[in-house]
Amino acid sequence: METEVLKIDRENIDEDIIKRAAVLLRRGELVAIPTETVYGLGANGLDEKACLNIFKTKNRPADNPLILHISNKEMLYNLVEDVSDDAKKLMTLWPGPLTMIFKKSEIIPEVVTAGGDTVAVRFPVDEIARRIIEEANIPIAAPSANISGRPSPTNASDCYYDLNGKIPLIIDGGDCNIGIESTVIDMSEDTPTILRPGFYTLEYIREILPNVALDDALVDDNKIPKSPGQKYKHYAPKARMQVYVGDMASDFIYKKAREYQNKGIKVGVLVFEDNMKRFEGFERISFGDRSDLSQMSHVLFTALRKMDKLKVDLILAEGVMDNNLGKSIMNRMKKSAAGNIEYL
Ligand code: TXA
Ligand code: MG
Repeated sequence: METEVLKIDRENIDEDIIKRAAVLLRRGELVAIPTETVYGLGANGLDEKACLNIFKTKNRPADNPLILHISNKEMLYNLVEDVSDDAKKLMTLWPGPLTMIFKKSEIIPEVVTAGGDTVAVRFPVDEIARRIIEEANIPIAAPSANISGRPSPTNASDCYYDLNGKIPLIIDGGDCNIGIESTVIDMSEDTPTILRPGFYTLEYIREILPNVALDDALVDDNKIPKSPGQKYKHYAPKARMQVYVGDMASDFIYKKAREYQNKGIKVGVLVFEDNMKRFEGFERISFGDRSDLSQMSHVLFTALRKMDKLKVDLILAEGVMDNNLGKSIMNRMKKSAAGNIEYL
């Protein structure tokens, strides 16, 4: 299959391109679309066959449910059984990078929920995503548009790399603002529980819902995550990766980088801007200013993919403290590095 990439100018959105995407989606085809978090691999969320095709195309484990994307708050009520008062409070963060889990309604195909009785719903703020959903006039099931296990794509060319030849259309809306996936929060039980940290942090959500909890698996590696997607190896670059956190991290990375390089191992480093100069002579990518974690989340996945393209054997990366947005970033880095994190 020929994969077409159509670029949309955000200043002047071409309605014909929006319509092309919507028509394909209504017909049961898959289309990769930009959102403010990462690109999504979209399909008609009420079409069982189209959703099955998402699993096949991504090579996604069958027990990992999909998120349904909507383009206005009213669409939610057809998809779910009940919207609690707490959920209504969190809906003030919609549209935005927040996914809520509810008891599902009758109309949701089983494949979307992986057989479970809950469904994840998100109302993205990205204008292109919203326009496409609105035009298609159906909830759009969309996991991140990567082959399962790879870092989520945050631009159209990363989607193309993974999906070329597998889907008819990629909508190029430029770089995603946020760069890591939405916060997933379970609203289907009494205590709202964060299953996947994202741009909206525990600290932030606690200001709206003081009783919000973190899934046990986010605090204890031995617990089974309630969000199936969290249990898989994920966001993985091809190279082995080690993450170092703390005041001594960059000294340690420097020592290790030289050591490995002397052994003939091709090393790539991911460090904050203030350390870039020190790593001249190594493949290096900057996380930006260390006081700006939103910049770090913006570049993280693209940086991992760039390291793959540079064909490094080993990635040595600076990590951050495990709070606020740092918690969401470390959640991804921990998986990218298969748990290889050292606190120095
Ligand atoms: O930002 C995002 O959320 C992106 C964009 C495209 O919207 N989408 C995304 O989808 O990251 P995906 O499929 O890569 O991740 C969805 C996560 C998975 O960890 C999945 O297990 C979890 O949400 N999830 C979905 N439905 C669930 C449910 N009913 N119960 C528990 N976890 C659920
Ligand atoms: Mg994903």
